[in-house]
Amino acid sequence: MADESQKWVLMVTAQTPTNIAVIKYWGKRDENLILAINDSISVTLDPAHLCTTTTVAVSPAFNQDRMWLNGKEISLSGGRYQNCLREIRARANDVEDKKKGVKIAKKDWENLHVHVASYNNFPTAAGLASSAAGFACLVYSLAKLMNVQEDNGRLSAIARQGSGSACRSLYGGFVKWVMGKEENGSDSIAVPLVDEKHWDELVIIIAVVCSRQKETSSTSGMRETVETSALIEHRAKEVVPKRIIQMEEAIQKRDFATFTHLTCADSNQFHAVCLDTSPPIFYMNDTSHRIISCVEKWNRSEGTPQVAYTFDAGPNAVLIARNRTYAALLLQRLLFHFPPNSETDLNSYVIGDKSLMEDIGIQDIKDIEALPPPPEIKDKVPAQKYKGEISYFICTRPGRGPVLISDDSQALLHPNTGLPK
Ligand code: DP6
Repeated sequence: MADESQKWVLMVTAQTPTNIAVIKYWGKRDENLILAINDSISVTLDPAHLCTTTTVAVSPAFNQDRMWLNGKEISLSGGRYQNCLREIRARANDVEDKKKGVKIAKKDWENLHVHVASYNNFPTAAGLASSAAGFACLVYSLAKLMNVQEDNGRLSAIARQGSGSACRSLYGGFVKWVMGKEENGSDSIAVPLVDEKHWDELVIIIAVVCSRQKETSSTSGMRETVETSALIEHRAKEVVPKRIIQMEEAIQKRDFATFTHLTCADSNQFHAVCLDTSPPIFYMNDTSHRIISCVEKWNRSEGTPQVAYTFDAGPNAVLIARNRTYAALLLQRLLFHFPPNSETDLNSYVIGDKSLMEDIGIQDIKDIEALPPPPEIKDKVPAQKYKGEISYFICTRPGRGPVLISDDSQALLHPNTGLPK
């Protein structure tokens, strides 16, 4: 007969957002601790549209650490998972759950195993960075389960050891990852610049670009850049430090023109150092370039920029519009240039905050076909339609940092067995 005392399972569920850098992190000075060669700044995306939910559980009945990602078991043996687990366990404290009659002493944690179940609310196949939200959520939820007392800044230094960009997902709004100077990485942490309410006019549209190409991972891509590019040192030492100061000021003042100038220039320079890598790395494709041209042309015709673009290690475009009015005009332009294939369901072509579709009066595919060409493109109108090049659009906005989910029905692990539901 099973020992009754072995039956308890303690669980915590948390939700953590993803983030997109407007001043990019590219290049490490320490591969194991994941220390960057420059500071970076990101905007946190609304978790309602893009986030990771993670449930972590502990029980004396578990005989090893296990993890399930989107329902499939994955190995926790990799160095990055091990580093995060070790750092969190080292900071665990006494835990008591009076309702369940469970007491865990600080010293017990090293002998107890955990189960982790994680789920992304956006398609993983989309090539949107899911590791940032994933590692941030793993560290945040384990810290709550183990009663770790460190603040989010200290937790960010642990999440950083899972994936560099993950440290910036410990806060909402605009966040800076300070590269730090210490060899042990203790000062390489995320700091919140402003919360998500500071600049709540911004609207973000992500264009998920169709691509068959297998991309070079960020980890190996940035390693190759540091090893072979002559430009990366100039970028890290001369260009980024100045941009960081200017970007912080632009964010504080909500200066959209400067913000756009810096965001686009930094994305383009990041892709330029990728091209300067040997062999060269191409993350953007023709569709990405067409989106850049469309935005550049429109911004120029407006006289003052209305939309910023940025691209990570893949072809997807992240477009940040000044406000809702311009986001609607942007979506109109995007749908004009990139109409869906005829078999595509409109409901799955524009996802996230669908209210922008109402703003522009689009109810079905026929409305997209009837969109007039944007006034800034006078010539070659028929040649500027690229049907089927975009998989779908996600409409979102800046969002909040991690939260605990107290509603047990949303837990991803079974409360009695600690196995996935
Ligand atoms: C282009 O954080 O994915 O998105 O630290 O090796 O896990 P590792 O890399 P990762 O790199 C992100 C690179 C980027 C720019 C950014 O997010 O700042």
